[in-house]
Amino acid sequence: MIYSEKVMDHFANPRNIGELEDANGVGEVGNAKCGDIMKMYLKIEGGIIEDVKFKTFGCGAAIATSSIATEMIKGKPLDEALKLTNKAVIEALDGLPAAKIHCSVLAEQAVKTAVADYYKRQGIDPTPIVGVIEEHCETCCEV
Ligand code: FES
Repeated sequence: MIYSEKVMDHFANPRNIGELEDANGVGEVGNAKCGDIMKMYLKIEGGIIEDVKFKTFGCGAAIATSSIATEMIKGKPLDEALKLTNKAVIEALDGLPAAKIHCSVLAEQAVKTAVADYYKRQGIDPTPIVGVIEEHCETCCEV
């Protein structure tokens, strides 16, 4: 399996790793098949993602995809963060091997789940805004 330099860099030096004590949106997602878990912490102020951190218990590709996803959403308005697709994450990493596509799906789901949690905490139903977050990635592996 060949990984791009960007994947190796984000795996070896993950950005924004850790927890945010004052997070106001937290999302945890897992892949039932591989057992990997990703947790995303967001600090949202005035509709902007002021800060983001993550913790991933999983494979190298899951660590690299969550790392780059945090860079892609930091400082962005919520509606832009919600447009982050696993495809965009893969492109930003200069590609992922086919068997690792599902790891990038986890990153997209983690961001959406954390944003949904933020809306829930505000007493807002997140479904019309965030949409339904697929829990399994049988089909979303087809990129
Ligand atoms: Fe499970 Fe990568 S193998 S997320």
